[in-house]
Amino acid sequence: MSDSLIIFDTTLRDGEQSPGASMTRDEKVRIARNLERLRVDVIEAGFPAASQGDFDSVRAVAEAVSESRVCGLARAIEGDIKAVANAIKPAAMSRIHTFIATSPIHMQEKLRMSPDEVLERAVWAVKLAREFTDDVEFSPEDAGRSDPDFLCRVIEAVIDAGAGTINIPDTVGYNLPGQFGGLIATLLERIPNADKAIFSVHCHNDLGMAVANSLSAVLNGARQVECTINGLGERAGNAALEEVVMAVRTRQDLFNCDTRIDTTQIVPTSRLVSNITGFAVQPNKAVVGANAFAHESGIHQDGVIKKRETYEIMRAEDVGWSHNRMVLGKHSGRNAFRTRLAELDIQLESETALNSAFARFKELADKKHEIFDEDLQALVTEESLEQATEKLKLVTLKVCSETGETPSADVTLSVDGVDMHASMTGGGPVDAAFRAIDAIVDSGCNLLLYSVNNITTGTDSQGEVTVRLEKDGRIVNGNGADTDIVIASAKAYLNALERMSVDLRRAHPQVTQQPI
Ligand code: KIV
Ligand code: ZN
Repeated sequence: MSDSLIIFDTTLRDGEQSPGASMTRDEKVRIARNLERLRVDVIEAGFPAASQGDFDSVRAVAEAVSESRVCGLARAIEGDIKAVANAIKPAAMSRIHTFIATSPIHMQEKLRMSPDEVLERAVWAVKLAREFTDDVEFSPEDAGRSDPDFLCRVIEAVIDAGAGTINIPDTVGYNLPGQFGGLIATLLERIPNADKAIFSVHCHNDLGMAVANSLSAVLNGARQVECTINGLGERAGNAALEEVVMAVRTRQDLFNCDTRIDTTQIVPTSRLVSNITGFAVQPNKAVVGANAFAHESGIHQDGVIKKRETYEIMRAEDVGWSHNRMVLGKHSGRNAFRTRLAELDIQLESETALNSAFARFKELADKKHEIFDEDLQALVTEESLEQATEKLKLVTLKVCSETGETPSADVTLSVDGVDMHASMTGGGPVDAAFRAIDAIVDSGCNLLLYSVNNITTGTDSQGEVTVRLEKDGRIVNGNGADTDIVIASAKAYLNALERMSVDLRRAHPQVTQQPI
């Protein structure tokens, strides 16, 4: 019988640490519900001590989810651990994840603590967390660059103190697969009470090795993998959940363990995360990229038609590609709309919210005859973005684009309830529209990224636009969707400007050990 491999998803915590990927409470709840449908074992819902908003989000996830365990992150300090304990109280199953760095560079330069002080603090933190729950996870941060002898001492002590899961992070993505797998084997062999805990890994992708390192660790005895949807995460990201899960599932000849994941939910969850965060999935991305199952060359196509296995090691429908089908159309009524939202586990807060989403759906169905699940997800995201965009609203936008002429845009915005107008020219209609918006709001922001993706296929598809802005070192993303990509672009720009104007004072868990 094969062991179970626990899937710990940290899209809502480490994923959110990607610059510009911050999510609202409602967006986090929507993703968490999808993770539950995906049958993720543990959802790391956030870092509650970061801000009141982060605390509220973790609590809302704890209230919404019942089939997955809900976890919150805490540094090894009292306020953080108590914040997690309070935030996860409503959860049916919960976990406190506490951590402290153990590598020489982190202990000396960041913590300014001696190894003995770190060991003592780790034990103290685990004992405190155990006062609130039986399920405590401990991570020696930057384990990948820590001294294995010291790691063994710390881990033995925290297991004795009551940690049931020991997570080994390669925080800076420095390790190579053979080395990282070897580290896990060494720890399991040398730590006398290793059999009292589950060993987990958490790998970053700085050298493109996060998935390979995680899989090597599993081959060497790790039984939990921490990962994120689409590999979202700090810097180059974390190990991609879909790649880890499909590698283990596809290579059952090598792995004597498997996950509980319902793989048919992988693509819909990937789409949802990309829609909400505005982080597009590259077309050649394994498993969830648009080309992952597309065959270009005639030879391949011929082989696939004769026998699929000649060039395909997984089936597209097994990872959820078949979910991309027409679900509703112009003539679908309120009930059909409501039922499909319920099937997608999308809960709108009130009847008013449902009415306004339905009105939006009818408007979309007039422009685009086939409405797919992805359109519905985008529509609900649009609805919540519009509610969050309180100060800046797009009233009208008119662009002129003609061969041989300079493109121009006329924009009317409602700024704090007052209509303001500007006309500008630009290199293209989007550029002209952004200039006109800037002439009104004078934001002082730098545009770091502008990207457009079609949500489904066809020229009548909705365009999903992401705009990333920077100001005084702060980076935010804004999203917008519409069948007209200039309008989608203007909405995304306004959404980013609105997010920039909100003073989001939140702490990063890995930067300091001081209370916030
Ligand atoms: O990368 C890391 O070390 C982390 C820890 C907080 C687990 O995210
Ligand atoms: Zn991390």
